[in-house]
Amino acid sequence: MDKHEKWLKLANNIGELVFENNIAAVQINEKCICVIKTPNGLKACSSKCPHAGGDLSTGFLDAKGNIICPVHNYRFNLNHGRDTNDEGYFLKLFKVKEDQHGVWLKVDI
Ligand code: FES
Repeated sequence: MDKHEKWLKLANNIGELVFENNIAAVQINEKCICVIKTPNGLKACSSKCPHAGGDLSTGFLDAKGNIICPVHNYRFNLNHGRDTNDEGYFLKLFKVKEDQHGVWLKVDI
């Protein structure tokens, strides 16, 4: 593990996070991170859309588990962050996990 990364505890369990459209907004170091329940498991990304800065925490998911920005409806694949039209936009992703001790986000420090 890189010594400049660590797992940060977001909640004691997934039920403590407030989800709307399967997306929970979490503030970390003045940045907003989205924790997302997808058909492929828990994912996390920056709430800032790489297209023009839209707020992805107010977006929604499609049936494949891509997140859709509410501003211009760009879709981003939450496995690699790329926009699904392949226009070259990359969404910043974070690792997130849930275990018996809580919900954890991997952050750079
Ligand atoms: S700001 Fe998100 S799609 Fe344009």
